[in-house]
Amino acid sequence: MAAPNFVSRLNEQIANEFAAHQQYVACAVHYDGETLPQLAGFFYRQALEERDHAMMMVQYLLDADADVVIPGVAAPQNGFDDIVAPVALALDQERRVTDQINGLVACAREEGDFTSEQFMHWFVKEQVEEVATMSDLLRVVERSRDDPMEIENFIAREHPAVEGDDPTAPHPAGA
Ligand SMILES: [Fe+2]
Ligand SMILES: [Fe+2]
Repeated sequence: MAAPNFVSRLNEQIANEFAAHQQYVACAVHYDGETLPQLAGFFYRQALEERDHAMMMVQYLLDADADVVIPGVAAPQNGFDDIVAPVALALDQERRVTDQINGLVACAREEGDFTSEQFMHWFVKEQVEEVATMSDLLRVVERSRDDPMEIENFIAREHPAVEGDDPTAPHPAGA
């Protein structure tokens, strides 16, 4: 039985993950409109990962026989001044989500809900990777802001479209 306090916090996090999805779609569309297909593809794929995160949380609540409420989400930022702005925004977002995930771990622990705490551990590890990826990418776009093809080449080389599946990842609902 998941702690009610944790269940309500996890429902809020589902909204945050869906909002992250929408934000990354907006970033992808911006780059697509600028004919930067590698950056666009990278953000389209990131968006799908955020949707998966939301759906993993939905599956956990279903499995725990807890209430799940599919939320509306805050509108993302659309329209960016330059090639750097979407990545800077993405890094801010990942840092914020890391705080949210850590807050959920703390909540589960305070409630003595060890099952929920264990569920959250995968997300703790995932956030380390996501913050590292975005902060590396920010360094690259800042360095090569006047040479977008360098950035495109970096993405093609370091973040190819097909990345390996993580067998330790929680199951997303419906997948
Ligand atoms: Fe996420
Ligand atoms: Fe993320």
